[in-house]
Amino acid sequence: MSERFDSQFAEVASEPVTSLDTHELRGGAMVKPPAVALHPGHLKVAARRRLPSVIFDFLEGGSNDEVTLARNFADLDELRLNQRVFDHVASCNLGTTLFGQRAAMPVALAPIGLSGVFHPGAEIHAARAAAAFGVPYCLSTLSNYPMEEVAAAVNAPFLFQLYVFKDRAINSALLQRAERLNCPGVVVTLDTAVQGRRNRDLDNGLVVPLKVRPSHVLGMMRRPRWLFNWLLKKPTLGNLAPYSPDGSDLATVSSWAEPRFKGAVSAADLEWIRHIWPRKLVVKGILDAEDAKLAVKLGADAIVISNHGGRQLDGASSTIKMLPAIREAVGDDVELILDSGIRSGFDVLKALGLGANGCLVGRAYVYGLAAHGETGVSAALELIAQELDEAMTLTGTPDVNALPSDLVLR
Ligand SMILES: Cc1cc2nc3c(=O)[nH]c(=O)nc-3n(C[C@H](O)[C@H](O)[C@H](O)COP(=O)(O)O)c2cc1C
Repeated sequence: MSERFDSQFAEVASEPVTSLDTHELRGGAMVKPPAVALHPGHLKVAARRRLPSVIFDFLEGGSNDEVTLARNFADLDELRLNQRVFDHVASCNLGTTLFGQRAAMPVALAPIGLSGVFHPGAEIHAARAAAAFGVPYCLSTLSNYPMEEVAAAVNAPFLFQLYVFKDRAINSALLQRAERLNCPGVVVTLDTAVQGRRNRDLDNGLVVPLKVRPSHVLGMMRRPRWLFNWLLKKPTLGNLAPYSPDGSDLATVSSWAEPRFKGAVSAADLEWIRHIWPRKLVVKGILDAEDAKLAVKLGADAIVISNHGGRQLDGASSTIKMLPAIREAVGDDVELILDSGIRSGFDVLKALGLGANGCLVGRAYVYGLAAHGETGVSAALELIAQELDEAMTLTGTPDVNALPSDLVLR
């Protein structure tokens, strides 16, 4: 791992630093952005410098007053890892199994819709970095590249995330395409019965259809590399373009798709998906123990405990707070993956210590993607792995699959 990191590190290091602007990182620290990503926060600084501010806000923001967004971080920070000094570990095993596949560490890349607005060729860059590192990648229904193009460009299977349509024919067409591509699992997102209102986007005028403001144009001109890429190849919604009758540009397909998504996904919908989908069925967006039990009863093989990164129900619990009760409700045999707020290997270990089998990361990898494409995603993964290894060493944890019972103090 470290050899690969060294070369990526050199590439990241070759990016020139043009200004010494300061930015607030998680935890309130103010830093000058360095030429290299020494920790995950530096990738965020670099992403902010690459993206127009409205696009950075779209990535960063949560719903409404962002109470849940903040809670995700606060509740993770409140937990303490139990430092152990006599159970010294010479080398740690980070390898495990996620969604039935070998994974180099208990982390997978979350589905991120519209990721082409952060970097051209985003899904291909992210999927390649994940494959090279040996962790699962999940492609969003709302990816810019169609799943077939991602599969052709990446020599590794990926999971497909499904936003359920009212029209079952579209769902079954999407699932058949995913099956033909040998996707090992489908991730059905359940927490978007209505779309969270994101105040930052409203303030920035980032609405569909976009009414271009002078500030948008100015913001984009201040990020010429981003603007150049955008003009060169405007992203669309590749998976959905075949079903949208009126053209394939982003605005047209988005306006076509939005009213066609199902609101609440019912138990009957999930049963139907279980019936037609033969491989791993993962449900995403569970935050309640009874819902988790019902999902398992309906045939889910794995559950992603998620509040959509604080982008849906504002005021909802953090995911880490709900994890112990959900683990207790479903028992030890159900795979539980946690997301929302995971920014470091330390966060990952806390989630494992409270009963998760692994974590999805969203923004933590998109910062790297926006900053440096595939190299940046690889750097994000490598940094998380280094932190996880460090945390395991200092807590006397030799293996992610055999954790000490007192790993996390509450
Ligand atoms: C810009 C953005 C786009 C997202 N798009 C999707 C999506 O298409 N499908 C989905 O299930 N979740 C989507 N999510 C939620 C993520 O999959 C994941 O649950 C969330 O990012 C986890 O929180 P984190 O960013 O704090 O790691 C998106 C999140 C962000 C930030």
